Amino acid sequence: MKETFRSDLLAGKTTVITGGGSGLGKAMALRMAGLGAKIGIVGRRLDKLQATVDEITAAGGTAACATGDVRDSAAVKAAFDAVEAKLGPANQLINNAAGNFLSASEDLSDNAFDSVVRIVLYGTFNCTRELGQRLIARGAPGEVLSIVTTYVHNGSAFVLPSAAAKAGVAAMMRSLAVEWATYNIRLNSVAPGPFPTEGAFSRLLPGSEIEKQAKRRVPSRRFGEHHELTSLVAFLMSDASPYQTGDIVTIDGAEALFSGQQFAGFAHLDRGMAKEMMAALKPKK
Ligand code: COA
Repeated sequence: MKETFRSDLLAGKTTVITGGGSGLGKAMALRMAGLGAKIGIVGRRLDKLQATVDEITAAGGTAACATGDVRDSAAVKAAFDAVEAKLGPANQLINNAAGNFLSASEDLSDNAFDSVVRIVLYGTFNCTRELGQRLIARGAPGEVLSIVTTYVHNGSAFVLPSAAAKAGVAAMMRSLAVEWATYNIRLNSVAPGPFPTEGAFSRLLPGSEIEKQAKRRVPSRRFGEHHELTSLVAFLMSDASPYQTGDIVTIDGAEALFSGQQFAGFAHLDRGMAKEMMAALKPKK
């Protein structure tokens, strides 16, 4: 990928990214480090976190990691302390850590529902409150971004805990965008459609047939590429977007619109054939 932003777009930013050791979290960590942000990644598995830190450092960036489960507010505090001890005060947060799996909702156990909601909703609150308290105490401006999903608006069958928790996250970002504007803290959500990662695809789109069907729901018939998502995130986390707060920005190649439009399927027909069919329906003069 040829870099499209100035290499110092994120200079002066110190960004904590949860779940930053793999998948989209790792992609954001690498891209943002390449644009001058210092990156603190927090997650459950030290080996993955350290590998990402090493990759960033080898590319000339600055990064540190700390283990911690976002469900545990004391662990979150300790992880922020550990990262700040190495990088200096954090002024940004990306709530990326998530939990999700496909299940019929009537079969969910207490613990299954609890696990996802605790990671997504409580985890986001724990991390956002932690950064917010630190920024407010220092009188420093900052940015928070939460990775949600396109089903944040309408819910989704078979991923109920995630749908409910992500809707809560979006509401949290919007509530705080108003409440913390006085502290110069901006909060936004990004709602990605399908961007291939091992973690999400093995859980949610298992098998090539299901993957093929998912691709058909995107008008361009392709999934998103990581750099397309990280470009949006870099912009939202930069000083190039100072007036954007409380937003939910969709990035899905119009997949959600396609799914909601009654005649969208025609877009996948051969255009010549589709036009012939429409012409045949036109009343003759
Ligand atoms: N269907 C139904 N229930 C499931 C499940 C599935 N596919 N996977 C886990 N569960 C249930 C477990 O059975 C358990 O409930 P129980 O104690 O009543 O049996 C409960 O969820 C917790 O599972 P456990 O594996 O002990 O929890 P955990 O805290 O270690 O893991 C998860 C949390 C379940 C969300 C796990 O998938 C995870 O860690 N995911 C992180 C990565 C991720 O999901 N990324 C999202 C990419 S879209």
